Amino acid sequence: MKTLKLLFEKNLAWASAIKDKDPEFFSLLSKQQNPEYLWIGCSDSRVPANQIVDLAPGELFVHRNIANLVVHTDLNCLSVIQYAVEALKVKHIIVCGHYGCGGIKASMDKGVNGLVDNWLRHVKDISRFNAEELKGLGQKQKFDRLCELNVIEQVANVCKTDMVQRAWEAGAELDVHGWIYNIENGILKDLDNSITSNGQLEEKHGMYELT
Ligand code: CO
Repeated sequence: MKTLKLLFEKNLAWASAIKDKDPEFFSLLSKQQNPEYLWIGCSDSRVPANQIVDLAPGELFVHRNIANLVVHTDLNCLSVIQYAVEALKVKHIIVCGHYGCGGIKASMDKGVNGLVDNWLRHVKDISRFNAEELKGLGQKQKFDRLCELNVIEQVANVCKTDMVQRAWEAGAELDVHGWIYNIENGILKDLDNSITSNGQLEEKHGMYELT
């Protein structure tokens, strides 16, 4: 049986390096986590959440799936948001997409990938919502823009969850951000569509029915 020895060796070296710098690091962290941020990102191996923003264990609560989607009925993602907002009381939720996303690319083609094509129907919906804007673009521009539009849509989906709605109603400080990461140079970009209230949600996403 393969035991992936290399990974265990790397793990020991990693844990030792942290302990050398801060002997109490793991014992203190084992008592509680207190992250300020929830990161919702793509599963892509080139987009590792903690490393991109150089945050240590304990500083980032993370959910990742293919194409960083926040689907209204995905109990996995919704449970993460609930725990982050209600128990950990994070101050920021970051939806981070990335250019060159294989999930977004696959959504632009005729689906031949099996199960995952059903998941990516959600991205095809976003193409449909934004058909006017995407119509005139070349293939590369369209790909890049769809990566961005997907983030903007998922930010709105986060805002519409009952957990975020309840938090805002209770006066909690909770900002929802949309970022995109460039896998070609390692740089993050803020898509400048942060939302901190229902007023802003309505302003930026007028098509959403507010209750
Ligand atoms: Co991706």
